[in-house]
Amino acid sequence: MTIETTIAAAPRLNLPTGFVWGAATAAYQIEGAVTADGRTPSIWDTYSHTPGRVLNGDTGDVADDHYHRFREDVAIMKELGLQTYRFSIAWPRITPQVTADGLGPVNEAGIDFYSRLLDELLAAGITPAATLYHWDLPQALEDAGGWPARATAERFAEYAGVVADRLGDRLHTFITLNEPWCSAYLGYGSGVHAPGRTDHADVLAAVHHLNLAHSLATTAIRAARPDATVGLTLNLAWVNPATDAPADVAAAQRIDGLQNRVFLDPVLRGSYPQDILVATSSVTDWSFVRDGDLALIHQPLDVLGVNYYSPTVVRAYDGVGEREEADGHGDSAVSPWPACADIEFPRQPGPYTDMGWSIDARGLTELLVRMHREHPGLPLMVTENGAAFPDAVEEDGSIRDEDRIAYLRDHVRAVSEAVAAGAPVQGYYVWSLLDNFEWGYGYSKRFGIVRVDYTTQERTPKASAHWYAELIRTQTA
Ligand code: FCB
Repeated sequence: MTIETTIAAAPRLNLPTGFVWGAATAAYQIEGAVTADGRTPSIWDTYSHTPGRVLNGDTGDVADDHYHRFREDVAIMKELGLQTYRFSIAWPRITPQVTADGLGPVNEAGIDFYSRLLDELLAAGITPAATLYHWDLPQALEDAGGWPARATAERFAEYAGVVADRLGDRLHTFITLNEPWCSAYLGYGSGVHAPGRTDHADVLAAVHHLNLAHSLATTAIRAARPDATVGLTLNLAWVNPATDAPADVAAAQRIDGLQNRVFLDPVLRGSYPQDILVATSSVTDWSFVRDGDLALIHQPLDVLGVNYYSPTVVRAYDGVGEREEADGHGDSAVSPWPACADIEFPRQPGPYTDMGWSIDARGLTELLVRMHREHPGLPLMVTENGAAFPDAVEEDGSIRDEDRIAYLRDHVRAVSEAVAAGAPVQGYYVWSLLDNFEWGYGYSKRFGIVRVDYTTQERTPKASAHWYAELIRTQTA
């Protein structure tokens, strides 16, 4: 089937007025220019430069060189008709001298870069949405304890206030954190993400300080810009027990608690889930939660960002045979999951993306509808969804990524179904605008709707980019 006939047959999507379509990226994955204009190292610079950490020894030193090519990238977005762009701000560009004791001076050159980006976006008619933390913690803060230390949350809030103050005249949507689950569990549990530590007590301390960071930052942003829209992006898991057996159902409940509710509940209900406090009591006593913290964390959220890629299946592990660990989060000697030695993640049925992630768009509908059911009235945004595929380049230079189109079409329809069921979804961002540095996988995984040739830095919109542009124009998929 050609792309044209696919589009001709496509039904109109059922979406509310004002629904926005965009694409997302993150600073360390695209910017490069890691020593330019006063930027200091983040934990991802240190980690990627540590031999054996990232596939092929890849680093974000150059990445997509977006720091120097952002005008070309915004022109591509405009050409595609994107209505909004979610990017992240690199903290080490804004306050490069930050330490646990203080934020240090604001780096004007760092502010200028994002200021120029905002101007370029607004001139192109594209609404910016900025994530303040997409995993690039200033190394000095990691050296002082990282996310398991409370000071990191306090400095983050001050940095957020600076960004709101200095850029909030043109930037109105702030996502405090991207996927704090990954920061805590992959950064401090399995160590497959920076800073690469492996201590389950640290994971849970990091969880709390990330929740605290979100709330302190929200307060700081609102103080600087009372009209700002403040959100939090979570990689919520659609967790299914492998069977109806009570032990498998209990396993699913624990993973739901550790991935979803440990972030949702403090922010939206003002408490940590009791079952998780009990399940993790042998790992930590949670004494890092101070009096008053939960009241601080529990404050209104303007929008919940949902990132979804793949379903999660779990089952109880009886200790016999090798424990299956196909949770999609890479190979590691240490599990990312505290207090889960009796749970396994069986390999799921295909089809798979190039990440080995099972494809099932129903999860996106289920998660959005669940959020609507459990937290009625909470505005939702799909802040990431997309797929890596190997992407053959044809002789004429084109990339006919029908697999990515099929993935995106199924998931966009899944969003439309959630809306039909009442979920207040305001928009959708494809991950990603550009092929980029995919963390521990380096440049080996391509998520972009626009191809990047890493030798020449040439950008080529793939068939999926043209398909997405048509979707935005016609509202059909
Ligand atoms: C998400 C991250 C994003 C990208 C995609 C594939 O977990 O937020 O940076 O790596 O996965």
